[in-house]
Amino acid sequence: MKNPQTSVLISEARIQVRIRELGAAITRDYPDGELILLGILKGSFLFLADLVRAIDRPVKIDFMGMASYGSGTVSSGEVAVTKKLGMNITGAHLLIVEDIVDTGRTLNALVHLLQHEKPQSVQIAALLDKEERREFAVPVAYRGFPIPDAFVVGYGLDFNEDYRGLKDICILREGA
Ligand code: IMP
Ligand code: MG
Repeated sequence: MKNPQTSVLISEARIQVRIRELGAAITRDYPDGELILLGILKGSFLFLADLVRAIDRPVKIDFMGMASYGSGTVSSGEVAVTKKLGMNITGAHLLIVEDIVDTGRTLNALVHLLQHEKPQSVQIAALLDKEERREFAVPVAYRGFPIPDAFVVGYGLDFNEDYRGLKDICILREGA
């Protein structure tokens, strides 16, 4: 990709409106008890930062690192834990916060892994969902936007570690 270019798919304003809706739904849905937001590094860092401020109840925060992509835009087919859970989740309500669900491989593997720790519940909040690409079942309780099968960057999402700081979610395409 010699001359990558981006075009806006979802604007900053639309992202913020939708996150406020998701935060209100999470606030409404969860019963009392410990709620841990588990951000999956690195792509979810901005989504998590905005979502936590849209939730009007006490929450705790942790992060895990999962890698399913090497460099490039095609999944390597392998899922590896690159940063382990940092806290005890037994008995807690766990809400996994992910940037994007593509094949579902990463989240499917993660949900199974986390069940071993016996949380009270495990749900998923994903900002973006490429639903037509799904190969592995993943129950997404809180979804920001369904998107078409295109490679997107910005608002935390990268291509080879670039573009994470873009305010909008953009489609990455090869330039002329
Ligand atoms: P899955 O395991 O195939 O669902 O892939 C999920 C992971 O792949 C996401 O957490 C992202 O890190 C990465 N990914 C999938 N699609 C995109 C994309 O369009 N842009 C950037 N990263 C992506
Ligand atoms: Mg990710």
